Amino acid sequence: MEHKLASLLLCCLITISHLSTCQADPEQLQDFCVANNPTTDTTINGFFCKPASSVISDDFFFAGLAKEGNTDNIFGSSIAAGNVLSFPGLNTLGLAINRVDIAPGGVNPLHSHPRSSELVFVLKGNLLVGFISTANKFYSKVLGTGETFVIPKGLLHFQYNVGNVSATAITLFNSQLPGVVSAPLGLFGVEPAIPMEVLTKTFQVNSSIISVLESNFVN
Ligand code: GLV
Ligand code: MN
Repeated sequence: MEHKLASLLLCCLITISHLSTCQADPEQLQDFCVANNPTTDTTINGFFCKPASSVISDDFFFAGLAKEGNTDNIFGSSIAAGNVLSFPGLNTLGLAINRVDIAPGGVNPLHSHPRSSELVFVLKGNLLVGFISTANKFYSKVLGTGETFVIPKGLLHFQYNVGNVSATAITLFNSQLPGVVSAPLGLFGVEPAIPMEVLTKTFQVNSSIISVLESNFVN
């Protein structure tokens, strides 16, 4: 009887601890599963593994973050993404890494990652990093070189260069493919466009203001 009670208690504790943990991508069932052609049409929830016999050291190597990105665009920022699509060795590992370069006064505009939290580590410069919680509270911090801020999964966030030299950050994710929903592009640069009545009612402005916003983000 005592044994049964102890097992029941253990089960309850395991269930509660699972419910309260923020889960990353599913655990892998083998050492690695280098994605075999992530651009294939046929997908599962993740990607098929390359045969282990043809996996090489370079499958675990990625040089895509080595160079400073070009920030000559409307936002003054550049993102180089190291996720399973560009770095197939990440398949099933629940990890991704980006490089963010931002010119003085530039911004990595408001966006969210539906499948991941994000750690922002500043390599160079000074960045204002902020996110908005589901209680509409704004949390932010100016980070200098070597400092880190965490963005909880799914919340809207940005990085803004408050310094007068270019800034660089490394961002880390607990998903192999965090996904990005951009606030400006998702609202005003979307194809096909969201109906005007929805946008004017949502933002409580007239259609000429929405048209100006849309004109900023036409592809
Ligand atoms: C920064 O916010 C990033 O998504 O890399
Ligand atoms: Mn982000």
